[in-house]
Amino acid sequence: MRYIMLGAIVAALLPMAAQAEGDAAAGEKAFAPCKACHAFGKNGVGPNLTGVVGRKAASEEGYTYSAALKGSGITWDEANLHEWLKNPKAKVPGTKMVFAGYPDDKKIDDVIAYLASKK
Ligand code: HEC
Repeated sequence: MRYIMLGAIVAALLPMAAQAEGDAAAGEKAFAPCKACHAFGKNGVGPNLTGVVGRKAASEEGYTYSAALKGSGITWDEANLHEWLKNPKAKVPGTKMVFAGYPDDKKIDDVIAYLASKK
């Protein structure tokens, strides 16, 4: 009986695992360079990133954003975050985020999964 229930739980969880593209644990490691400027729960050189997934760009209170990001009209869904982290300056010309971008799509998905876990 126990095994049958376990099987049912695994079967229920599998589709969820397949849906999540990124790996939050790997994303935490890939987030290391971001920590130079970003924290969770407070602004630093860069804005607070708690709850950033799904947030309107440049909407964190008390942080002074570039005019470029303020005027971007972006909402940080996964697709926009992906383009941003691949090449911030291409996504938002004139941004003051000095980060070259990650060429590795998997790494980007992992970082986004990590950001999504910080609500
Ligand atoms: C050298 C400092 C620096 C590094 C490194 C850096 N950022 Fe940023 N980040 C900034 C600054 C500054 C801004 C504000 C940009 C603007 O106003 O144009 C920003 C903005 C952002 C935003 C938009 C937030 C909002 O409220 O609209 C996200 C998301 C973000 N960074 C994620 C990351 C991630 C993830 C990494 C690591 C892969 C990273 N950043 C690395 C400085 C940095």
